Amino acid sequence: MQKGKFITIDGVEGAGKSTQIKFICDYLEAKGINVVLTREPGGTDLGEKIRELLLSTTTKSMHSDSELLLMFAARNEHIHHKIIPALEKGDWVLSDRFTDASYAYQGGGRGLDIERIEHLEHWVLKNFTPDMTLLLDIPVDLGMSRVESRGEKDRIELEDLDFFERVRQAYIDRSEKYPQRIKLIDSSKSREHTSAQIEKILEIL
Ligand SMILES: Nc1ncnc2c1ncn2[C@@H]1O[C@H](COP(=O)(O)OP(=O)(O)OP(=O)(O)O)[C@@H](O)[C@H]1O
Ligand SMILES: [Mg+2]
Repeated sequence: MQKGKFITIDGVEGAGKSTQIKFICDYLEAKGINVVLTREPGGTDLGEKIRELLLSTTTKSMHSDSELLLMFAARNEHIHHKIIPALEKGDWVLSDRFTDASYAYQGGGRGLDIERIEHLEHWVLKNFTPDMTLLLDIPVDLGMSRVESRGEKDRIELEDLDFFERVRQAYIDRSEKYPQRIKLIDSSKSREHTSAQIEKILEIL
């Protein structure tokens, strides 16, 4: 039985996920909630190894279906070995990206059929889904400019602007399809402006 709540944060590169995760953690911990912080792809020993394969620029070619399958293989580890056990203990879990990212990147970005992703989602996750997803939305070029100084790009970050425009649109489409769960947040202004929107949403959770 799930006792804790499962929150995910998603959005294009540089939207401010890592920045806002700190705010969310502090906010929840101040309420006496024990928060387990995790990320995708990754979050477990095997998941982090799969992340390496997915993001390394030394991985020269990867079929889009293989990319999708590896994401879900890592996710299967993640839910069974980390997320569900923590929720059953009563901890809350906060994940930097989750299944919505597969719809955005492999669906929107790579152009894979949504039905095939849904099929995999049902196969791996059954009815397991986040209680709340915070979608940080930002124009792609602004997000990119925020992370520019970070240096070396990973295999997916090397994609062109059109790829990330499709990713952003796929995220927005999902927030319109699942308005109860996915809360779209304008992340283009100050950190405080974004945090204030998040706080309002967390208050009602
Ligand atoms: N509202 C903001 N205004 C200006 N800069 C910001 C804002 N929020 C975050 N930043 C800065 O932008 C950069 C990217 O933010 P952050 O790392 O939180 O994004 P991210 O969504 O986690 O990116 P990635 O997808 O690459 O993990 C960081 O240097 C961060 O300090
Ligand atoms: Mg980040």
